[in-house]
Amino acid sequence: MPIEPVLDLHPPAADLRADVLEGLSAPVKKLPPKWLYDELGSELFDRICETADYYPTRTERGIYEQHGAEIAETLGAGVALIEPGAGSGEKAERLLRALDAPAAFIPVEISRSALEGCADRVHAALPELDVLPVCADFTGEMPRGAEIRRSSNVVVFFPGSTIGNFDPVEARALLERFADLAGPGGRVLIGVDLMKGEDVLRAAYDDSDGLTEAFNRNILDRINRELDGGFDQGGFEHEARVNGELRRVEMHLVSRAAQEVRVGDARFAFGAGESIHTESSHKFDPQGFAQIAKGVGLVEEATWTDERGWFAVMLLRTTA
Ligand code: AVI
Repeated sequence: MPIEPVLDLHPPAADLRADVLEGLSAPVKKLPPKWLYDELGSELFDRICETADYYPTRTERGIYEQHGAEIAETLGAGVALIEPGAGSGEKAERLLRALDAPAAFIPVEISRSALEGCADRVHAALPELDVLPVCADFTGEMPRGAEIRRSSNVVVFFPGSTIGNFDPVEARALLERFADLAGPGGRVLIGVDLMKGEDVLRAAYDDSDGLTEAFNRNILDRINRELDGGFDQGGFEHEARVNGELRRVEMHLVSRAAQEVRVGDARFAFGAGESIHTESSHKFDPQGFAQIAKGVGLVEEATWTDERGWFAVMLLRTTA
């Protein structure tokens, strides 16, 4: 079956300048984590996933390896798999290969080139599968499930614990959107990173190869390059901060001294020790996450975890 033409929802171009000026003017300086992912940032993230310190990717993959047959059986035959933020499609390909006669793969991706690469990859691996690529920002406008659904067995696939990068209000809104996308009786298969010891968390976000530090610092290089910024990397330190109260790991870039930094015509004052908060990665427990999901009409159907209880793959079903 050929790949269907891209359904292009023309996602609005994001505005780095507006986000940077707003974030650095806020009382607590912050930058939206999506700006970590330019070409170099995406490459660094892929490399982080293969480090010994960054456990989530390996652990989630291990759950699929150990429980793959049961997951496939629970999902059943004829799945139409929708993947918001599909990226390369590597994880979807692995899942689709394990499924019984999947009906369709619907990758949703903001980057048209990544989307086309993802569609090509899955098509090459599973030439019989109907692939319907959608170019859209999954946090914004998306087609309703009914418009793209070609099966009564719809599964929205959101691996990697990307849900943890959203604040609780945004995460709830996103789950609600997934429930809507899945439609009545549809399901959501989601990766959820679980709370664990501080040392493990800190090492995962400050790996000994320095890749997470480079990933975090890349945002300053981007500002320098794309917005005529004057950040001096030596003036900032990468910090992975475990915030136990909010159950999350935060990435910060901390100013080593009082300084002023220029971005285009704007100037921003930093005190010594003042930070730019660049990302939060929330950690959950399966019961707590099931409660959050229930609040938006998604009921837990099954949960698979690893032996150490570090990561969960959860299957949720819409109640509507
Ligand atoms: C994409 N996301 C789930 C990663 C995480 O663990 O929060 C992003 C990341 N940031 C630093 N390392 C990895």
